[in-house]
Amino acid sequence: MNSFENKKHISRFKLIIRLLWMVKNHKWLMLQAIFYGILNHLTNILLIVYGAWLITGIFLLPSYFPSIFELILLFILAIIKAVSAYMEQIKNHDVAFRLLADLRVQFFEKLEPLTPGNLIRKRSGDLISTIGGDIEMIEVFFAHTISPIVIAGSISVFILSFLGFWWILLPFFIFPFYFTLGVIIPIFYERFIRKNGKVIRNTLGSTNAHLIDSLQGIKTILLFNQGKSRLQQIADNGLLLNKVKRKSSTNAGLLIGIINLVIFTADIAIIIAAIQGFAINILDIRGVIVVIVATISSFGPLSAISSISHHLTQTFAAAERLFNIIDEKPIVVDSPDCSSETPERFDITFKNLSFKYSPEEPLILNDFNLKIPQGSKIALIGESGSGKTTILRILLRFWDFESGEIFIGGKDLKKMYQKNIHEIIAIVEQDTFLFDLSIKDNIAMGNYNVNMEDIIKCAKMANIHEFIMSLSEGYDTQISELGDKLSSGEKQRIAISRALIKNAPILLLDEPTSNLDTLNENALQKTLNTIIQDKTVIIVAHRSSMIANVDNIFLLKDGKCCEIGNWDNFVVNGKYNPEKVSLTNYTDNNM
Ligand SMILES: Nc1ncnc2c1ncn2[C@@H]1O[C@H](COP(=O)(O)OP(=O)(O)OP(=O)(O)O)[C@@H](O)[C@H]1O
Ligand SMILES: [Mg+2]
Repeated sequence: MNSFENKKHISRFKLIIRLLWMVKNHKWLMLQAIFYGILNHLTNILLIVYGAWLITGIFLLPSYFPSIFELILLFILAIIKAVSAYMEQIKNHDVAFRLLADLRVQFFEKLEPLTPGNLIRKRSGDLISTIGGDIEMIEVFFAHTISPIVIAGSISVFILSFLGFWWILLPFFIFPFYFTLGVIIPIFYERFIRKNGKVIRNTLGSTNAHLIDSLQGIKTILLFNQGKSRLQQIADNGLLLNKVKRKSSTNAGLLIGIINLVIFTADIAIIIAAIQGFAINILDIRGVIVVIVATISSFGPLSAISSISHHLTQTFAAAERLFNIIDEKPIVVDSPDCSSETPERFDITFKNLSFKYSPEEPLILNDFNLKIPQGSKIALIGESGSGKTTILRILLRFWDFESGEIFIGGKDLKKMYQKNIHEIIAIVEQDTFLFDLSIKDNIAMGNYNVNMEDIIKCAKMANIHEFIMSLSEGYDTQISELGDKLSSGEKQRIAISRALIKNAPILLLDEPTSNLDTLNENALQKTLNTIIQDKTVIIVAHRSSMIANVDNIFLLKDGKCCEIGNWDNFVVNGKYNPEKVSLTNYTDNNM
């Protein structure tokens, strides 16, 4: 079974190729960033070298003073440097943030079809950490890695050519230092700290997940007097994170030390080489100064590459976590022979259906058979954990089934597109999720075909209209403004309005009244009786009032379904045989 716990290792090479591939949609912007980057660093070096050239002229040449033209040139170089530095920053970050936006979209797009089968096992905190922290971390690659590598490469080639122009041997003195800074240090340092980078990302992920878990469950924590121990766990997590980060900071210090050592050695090497050139009359004194200044000022882009390797390891760890989620295969995939025709009838047949959540888990449904005629209302009852919600999830194609068939209006469910199935089925789930939108938008759920009248009508049917009108902003009240004010029953009634407004021919109600009081339940009961006359309805219910009016009651036990008949058979006429269907506990406890 797919699960996020089974993380796949993705090689560095593949990660880099995949990240680079993403840049293709913004290649012009990236090229602009590179262009301005090269211009920025080049003018920077030219400015220093040209300045040194002019100053040495003043001291070395008799009665020389820079002409106005030379000074203007210096000034123009300074302007170009300033503008290109500004443009480089803008373009680099523009492309990086566009790419991060693409990643967020890609992440959600990939996540959507996985829901809820794959996601059910992933802690929401882990996902939040991935969307937030990991995607941000990838900014380092897009904004501070790609263009700096190209810039450093170009600047190095330029400086080496410049040095070669003065003395052909000079590039051979300097190239080893460039290579060490631009290639050897980044590769080896990244390898050296790779393990710690992964540990940091994972520790950060689990620390965030634990914190979010604690915030989500804060009420339960307080009720069970677990505040102190939870706080201790948070503090322990913080200490652990601190420990791994301290190691990372020590490594960063080491890296800076090594980079500086290489640069100083290179500076000494170029001074020695230049003096040597002077000694054998290849360089004059001006040439000595110019090559020394050019070399010393050329290390900026290369040392940036070396330093970036410190962050890259975490960036790659973040990218690996992200791609692991993006690569997750959906549990249910639309088959190639799906047809977009929606059924004309809405009777539902489950035929010899067997299902387990994963190969190592027991069968939840075992040769399950059930026929629901079009327009009929049936109730599914059974002990907690018997598989009632599972049946609804399978019907919605959230999970695939091993063997057996399901038909809606005679059409094979596996040959229908998931989006078409979701169009013809509305559901009120056991747990209601309300978005941080207005109540109106929570009911409409992005359905542009509904107007305010429809929304009010459905809210009235779900017996929530009066409550909504009692709020100061009525239907425009934001869910976030209500905070904890909404009771579970009120949330459930909003969810019922949401399902009703969809006006789908099949309605699934998973314990729709579990949080409602008798008054609201009776009102809802009436609503359901009137509005769902022409719909095929499956009600999962524990409460007698909800199943009293259904056409047929089915008991789910040991993965199979057994027909009990209608309410009269069930209890009133005494036809119900507790021995046969083993409902004793069920009726004693719940009716
Ligand atoms: N994602 C899952 N992965 C593995 N097992 C699961 C998953 N979801 C549910 N189960 C298991 O499948 C069984 C049936 O669960 P289901 O939610 O369908 O029961 P139910 O009849 O709806 O129970 P209740 O009346 O408590 O809502 C349970 O044993 C449950 O632990
Ligand atoms: Mg359930």
